[in-house]
Amino acid sequence: MTAETLAHLMKESNHTVVLTGAGMSTESGIPDFRSSKGLWQNIDPRIVASTESLQKNYEQFREFYQMRITALDNCEPHKGHLILADFEKRGLVSLIATQNVDQLHQQAGSKNVAELHGNIVSIRCQKCGKPHAKEQFLNNSICTYCSGKLRPNVVLFGETLPTEAWDRTLHEIHDADLVLVIGTSLEVYPVNQLPSMSKGKLVYINREQTSTSAHYSFDLVLEGSAGEILADVHRELKDFKKL
Ligand code: APR
Repeated sequence: MTAETLAHLMKESNHTVVLTGAGMSTESGIPDFRSSKGLWQNIDPRIVASTESLQKNYEQFREFYQMRITALDNCEPHKGHLILADFEKRGLVSLIATQNVDQLHQQAGSKNVAELHGNIVSIRCQKCGKPHAKEQFLNNSICTYCSGKLRPNVVLFGETLPTEAWDRTLHEIHDADLVLVIGTSLEVYPVNQLPSMSKGKLVYINREQTSTSAHYSFDLVLEGSAGEILADVHRELKDFKKL
């Protein structure tokens, strides 16, 4: 079972949805969360990435996200992101539903992206909801309207997912012939339920099988780095267009 098999599945499918996680961005220099070098190996997410930390540990919360936002300045999409954008243009991918908050899919040119966990690129006031500039958050400013705390538009532990992104993803997953799950441990609810909501074929592209991913009955598992595997598939689909 190789990239060739996946290329064949993509040719056959009339509706392919891609679900990505932090493993899709590690080749751009952004660490994931739960693999051996993941962020949560050294940082407790409850202390820096939850509604409780926003209320009770704002300094640590702000420092953590300032670090992640600043780190993005030196990152750009890698070939895997560019290939998925090319697949969209050629009608081979209809939606990218991502848990990532770095907007690298959009930077690579993907148009139909559902941000299931929001993003850290845009900022709002926690109290009045008014948008603010990234620089204001990076400069420790407070809300210019109500003096409330500023925070990124990321979904924190303890918060619900953005309705529009979730509903659009559910809709597309229900109609999908093929779902590609790329670079995620599938540990986090409710996104980890999505693959089992599809009647289509399921493919898993990940560096490793995880305790959770092992529970899914994937039609195809390709272990390795997302960028390399997508490059192999791209070669197989060199002149193929759906449109
Ligand atoms: N190619 C393929 N797989 C990779 C690569 C790569 N280049 N790099 C890492 N991986 C795999 C890791 O082996 C791991 O199994 O990607 C997976 C990433 O899993 P997590 O770190 O758990 O990230 P993710 O599944 O996206 O986490 C979900 O949890 O912490 C929250 O909100 C955060 O959106 C995040 C959510």
